[in-house]
Amino acid sequence: MRRATASSSPNPRAAPVFHGAGAGEIGRVLREEHEQMLGAVERLRGERDEERCHALLRQVRRAWVIHALAEETVVYKALEGAPVREAAGAHADERFVEHELVQGLFEQLSRTRCSTLEWHARLNVARGIIARHIESEHEELFGQLASRFDAAGLGEIARRFRLAREKLTLLEEAKAA
Ligand SMILES: [Fe+2]
Repeated sequence: MRRATASSSPNPRAAPVFHGAGAGEIGRVLREEHEQMLGAVERLRGERDEERCHALLRQVRRAWVIHALAEETVVYKALEGAPVREAAGAHADERFVEHELVQGLFEQLSRTRCSTLEWHARLNVARGIIARHIESEHEELFGQLASRFDAAGLGEIARRFRLAREKLTLLEEAKAA
């Protein structure tokens, strides 16, 4: 059963709302991060000023890179070797591709003017992939985590995820300096 979809929002123009349950502390950390990410993309869609638009894009792009790497190296890695249903396993591979696709779209957006049709098209496609990605994580990844780890294990994954995020943030800041 789908726990949440974009249509669960009363306003079709509003950001999708996801409610994926479980996965303890790491679930809470990821849910919060996902909400922030979608919120930032929504702000980007509404931004018209060229300079502010690109400044916000740089933030969103960096947050996505950090999210993707921290998740891949800590969360997906924790599930490596875990027995999964065939369909869920296929989606696990798709999550890596979605991380890459969104990074590519952000990269192209960084060379595009905000007022153009190309900007809106690329941003809308990126938003769609992000929403699908989050939905798949809340519906499948969280369930896999919850069935493999107890509360202490999920807490330990959250601790390692935060640590990876801090290190990656420092690295990205150094790159941007
Ligand atoms: Fe992700």
